[in-house]
Amino acid sequence: MEFDALFNDVTGMLAQGFPGAADFFDQRRDTYGFVPAHPEEPPRGVDLAACIPLANDLTRPLVTQIAHLVDRLHWQQTYTEADGFSRDFLNKYAWLNLISPEGMFSSDSARVTIGYWGQGLFYPEHSHAPEEIYCVLAGSAIFHSEGHPPRLAGPGDTIHHTPHQKHALDMTPGPLLALIPWRGDGLVAKSDLK
Ligand SMILES: [Fe+2]
Repeated sequence: MEFDALFNDVTGMLAQGFPGAADFFDQRRDTYGFVPAHPEEPPRGVDLAACIPLANDLTRPLVTQIAHLVDRLHWQQTYTEADGFSRDFLNKYAWLNLISPEGMFSSDSARVTIGYWGQGLFYPEHSHAPEEIYCVLAGSAIFHSEGHPPRLAGPGDTIHHTPHQKHALDMTPGPLLALIPWRGDGLVAKSDLK
């Protein structure tokens, strides 16, 4: 099943390429149920193919795989214009859960998200109860994390946020394609915006 291959490749990438990331979830496929999701295309401004040349040698095969699977996956958005996000933002961002309480691989204790934010977007300050670790597959962003000077992260870099630590992301130059393992309480709750 192609989603098993995606599971293996994402969890393998996190375990091999991003120190600390594999502590967030169980790598054994047989510990998860599978919840089939109907495909939901991302907005038109989400350009995964453009991420392929912005990957590194380690991450490029996975970025290529995600780009090829784009029409088969269930892409989502957390925010709307009612939350203060512009149409431009909402046209150039999307995420999906590979592992979460809601599937596609179901877990009560872990979440692994694939997230994309387009070039030039600014994701304003927010926070959430789960701990998370951004693992950059392609592109870049400047992370503004409470208690740290701004940090530019590119392919292969990790940015860790503790529970409720405030953070904002500046996709300059961007775009950003990242794997984001989460653990802790409120895994699928909406983030708190400032
Ligand atoms: Fe976050």
